[in-house]
Amino acid sequence: MGLMGRMGMNTRNLRFRSNRVRDILSLFHEELDGMYGSGEVGVFLDMLFEAFLGWDKVRLLTSREQTIDQSDLLRFHWALEDLKRHRPIQHIIGYTDFCGCRIEVSPDVLIPRPETDEMVNWTLSILSSPLSTLRFLDLCTGSGCIAIALKKAFPAADVTAVDVSPEALEIARQNAQNNGVEVRFVEGDVLGGANGVNGQYGLIVSNPPYVRDSERAQMAANVLDYDPALALFVPDDDPLRFYRAIATIAKGHLADDGQVVVEINEALAEETCAVFKAQGFNPKVHEDFRGKPRWVSAALNP
Ligand SMILES: C[S@@+](CC[C@H](N)C(=O)[O-])C[C@H]1O[C@@H](n2cnc3c(N)ncnc32)[C@H](O)[C@@H]1O
Repeated sequence: MGLMGRMGMNTRNLRFRSNRVRDILSLFHEELDGMYGSGEVGVFLDMLFEAFLGWDKVRLLTSREQTIDQSDLLRFHWALEDLKRHRPIQHIIGYTDFCGCRIEVSPDVLIPRPETDEMVNWTLSILSSPLSTLRFLDLCTGSGCIAIALKKAFPAADVTAVDVSPEALEIARQNAQNNGVEVRFVEGDVLGGANGVNGQYGLIVSNPPYVRDSERAQMAANVLDYDPALALFVPDDDPLRFYRAIATIAKGHLADDGQVVVEINEALAEETCAVFKAQGFNPKVHEDFRGKPRWVSAALNP
């Protein structure tokens, strides 16, 4: 149902005890703690109050006795209903924060993940030494989050980002504009040689699809129902197809002192390294904040 249709709803039917902030918080915790845990519901509430009312956490903490408008109350009502249906909070508010950039999301793009944020922060830390080639390439860019974060951190860099999905690229372009950066977005198939890739790059980065079809059964409903399948899944009989393609592209287009950084399936770290070794790279596995193998960096062997 669109927002207008939703707005037409009879607000007397809302189950909140009153328009008071304290009662909104209570109903969210009563109805959602069993599903998500109280800590996560607290995070949702922080995000919703910021998105709907522009309140930061301190304002929320100190405003429990305040009342809000009926139209705002209706938005909380629908957010509660959506969360009960496992709709991701980022789709409810329309954005997420990634490496200090606000990134809009829709069902056409993967919601950027904290592990990817961590990988990009690590990547930025290794790029701080002088680079001979300030040209960066982001393969499988989706919302554009990685390319945009790189360009923000290195304004002088020439950043190209490739994705096969025109719908994703439309959002990525909007995100670049919203963040005030210029990135060259190219529609291309990474498995087919990657249109738009040319010359040498100091960094080739990618978070490609890497979840095996057989791993679907272990995934949460809010991922399966709301993230695009194109962004996630690879066939069980060839789960490393993107890494082979990326290693081949890197072999032809990585500057001598350049780095490749790719997010990986935690169950396939060794196999992913083998793909890069076969192309003459010296890959290293890095763990994320949960202690899981999460990304591989690789430079060309001297
Ligand atoms: C895991 S998502 C990553 C999105 C974003 N880089 C991030 O980290 O949040 C993978 C992306 O790969 C794109 N993709 C899938 N198949 C592709 C292909 N053959 N060539 C290029 N991009 C592809 C999907 O459209 C999706 O945007």
